[in-house]
Amino acid sequence: MNYRTLGRTGWRVSEISFGAWAIGGLWGDVDDRESLAALHKAVDCGVNFIDTADVYGMGRSEKLCGQLKRERKEEVLIATKAGRKLPQQTVEGYSRENLSVWLDESLRNLGVETIDLLQLHCPSTDLYYHPEAFGLLDDFVRAGKIRYYGVSVERVEEALKAIEFPNVQSVQIIFNMFRHRPARLFFNEAQRRKVGILARVPLASGLLTGKITRETKFAQDDHRNFNRHGEMFDVGETFSGVDLDVALAAVDELKSLLIPGPSLAQFALRWILMFDAVTCAIPGAKRPAQVQENCDASGLPSIPPDIMERIESIYDWKLAPLVDQRW
Ligand SMILES: NC(=O)c1ccc[n+]([C@@H]2O[C@H](COP(=O)([O-])OP(=O)(O)OC[C@H]3O[C@@H](n4cnc5c(N)ncnc54)[C@H](OP(=O)(O)O)[C@@H]3O)[C@@H](O)[C@H]2O)c1
Repeated sequence: MNYRTLGRTGWRVSEISFGAWAIGGLWGDVDDRESLAALHKAVDCGVNFIDTADVYGMGRSEKLCGQLKRERKEEVLIATKAGRKLPQQTVEGYSRENLSVWLDESLRNLGVETIDLLQLHCPSTDLYYHPEAFGLLDDFVRAGKIRYYGVSVERVEEALKAIEFPNVQSVQIIFNMFRHRPARLFFNEAQRRKVGILARVPLASGLLTGKITRETKFAQDDHRNFNRHGEMFDVGETFSGVDLDVALAAVDELKSLLIPGPSLAQFALRWILMFDAVTCAIPGAKRPAQVQENCDASGLPSIPPDIMERIESIYDWKLAPLVDQRW
């Protein structure tokens, strides 16, 4: 496993880290014992950074992360998020009182005294025009409830605005072979300001593993079943917001670029790591075998420039018209 520096924190973070949404909920049935085994496998593979949120299974994911921390002697940094307990995203919802309650719950779930990295969980664009919200986070740092903070955003423009706040250490954004816009418009500025980037949804909710077909059935409570049109949350979080037929055709083209050896999932993760501005990819995983496969992407050789160009051209022709104007 290779490590990269996260923002100005001084932390060296595994370039393949662990996304802990699926082990909380909204991805069909998960078994806590298997989820914990997946987390342990991640640490075995050198992962030292986990992304979770208070709402993933309403504490279930955070509690599993806390349990992992207690069961391992290695240092494991845990980034969580707050803000999605609000019934509706409003600026007023990010009040001192609400944040304080949410943070206390996360601290209890994780079983720690200080949250390593607290991310605002995709607040509305408006919040980035309210410096007082970031002032509150500075207060929580001073009070010792959080060590560092960052944001998780839907849009590139929100990312650009967020990093104007000097203490934002990290931006979490969808970045994968189906979403190139952050690299084109945001990465240079983030690097210039020494802000870390967490590449989320790196496998486009599993599409970029190549295992999903038109016939694949998802459980009732899997967002890949019920959120394909944004019924519950931003449609971009499900299959990166790309229409399934277009996505599957693009996956076929990407498969044709694979050199023998790595899987498509590994190729997709290695592609993300080609960008120096990225601190880490945070693939979700429910099983130890998935974790192993994903972590092995860190050891793969670089993708040659001609293949990088062909990936870009698939994006430009097939995908950009669908996603570039939205996120
Ligand atoms: N708003 C936000 O802040 C936000 C939103 C979304 C995600 N995130 C974060 O980003 C993380 C990653 O995104 P994501 O989990 O949505 O999507 P993802 O990483 O693109 O896809 C994860 C899913 O793909 C499948 N998978 C993973 N590795 C695999 C492998 N090697 N082979 C086959 N299948 C594999 C698993 O599901 P199956 O086995 O069921 O197919 C897994 O749950 C999340 O866990 C979360 O921490 C944050």
